Amino acid sequence: MNYRHGYHAGNFADVLKHSALCELLRLLLAKDKKLFVLDTHAGAGGYDLAGKLAERTGEAEAGIARLAAAPRTGMPEAVARYLAQVEAYDRKFGPSGGSLRRYPGSPRLIRAALRPGDRFIACELHPEDALALKREFAGDRAVEVRQADGYKALKAMLPPPERRGLVLIDPPFEVTDEFERLSRAVRQGLRRFATGCYAIWYPIKDEAAAAAFVGTLEAPKRLVMELRLGGDVGTGKLAACGLAVINPPWRFDEAMAEALPWIARCLGPGVRATISAPPANAPAPASLP
Ligand SMILES: C[S@@+](CC[C@H](N)C(=O)[O-])C[C@H]1O[C@@H](n2cnc3c(N)ncnc32)[C@H](O)[C@@H]1O
Repeated sequence: MNYRHGYHAGNFADVLKHSALCELLRLLLAKDKKLFVLDTHAGAGGYDLAGKLAERTGEAEAGIARLAAAPRTGMPEAVARYLAQVEAYDRKFGPSGGSLRRYPGSPRLIRAALRPGDRFIACELHPEDALALKREFAGDRAVEVRQADGYKALKAMLPPPERRGLVLIDPPFEVTDEFERLSRAVRQGLRRFATGCYAIWYPIKDEAAAAAFVGTLEAPKRLVMELRLGGDVGTGKLAACGLAVINPPWRFDEAMAEALPWIARCLGPGVRATISAPPANAPAPASLP
């Protein structure tokens, strides 16, 4: 296991995944019923953008830093809410002199949204990141951190007694059969918990392989969002990625249909976002001033 999310925290892939995650949480938590959240591949929880790992790649500069520097006027609400969460996390570490120094991973964004009584399990297999995650939430009884295989947890934890749940599956794609594992896990999850909401991140390094994977996600309600940086996807370097959401909450499609084109323009010329089956009444994308 060599993958460390610290190298990639706040990059364009995180922007897609985390803006959608914040919106999913907001909409799912609007209902006055308890929610169970499972983050199968949780990472370290929070990241130092000025630290050794992030500085080595500078990926946040071409991702979250561009959103943070954008004018707030005309910013879609879903993006503004996501950015507010990122900035709130950053502020916990004190003044950062105008630029983001810290970035919240998925467990932090989930934790920030939870209400008392909701349940959250975060799995991370890498010993160092699992330790960092445990430290991140030390003393916080609302978060159960497990150094465990997220795929096994998915099998063991579903269906949740709450009968309402969000499962984020965000593997590192270090192994060649990750797409197969992922689609098997989703199938198993849906068999156990057909009404759960599943958010599944995937890289697009091979168009045909990614499309074939998406094709395996057989669910009547499914939304697929993709973000492309504009370069060739076949170079080995991540230039495009997607997030498939099964059983999205009501109006999630509208929020993302407004947010994604704006995000793409904000990230730079040539960046493109697509969303499958955008709602007929989606608002026209706001323009960047
Ligand atoms: C893409 S990162 C997660 C990022 C995180 N979800 C976020 O959005 O902030 C994938 C993580 O999965 C971990 N991992 C790899 N295989 C795993 C497994 N079978 N179960 C749980 N975690 C795993 C890696 O160590 C890595 O930290």
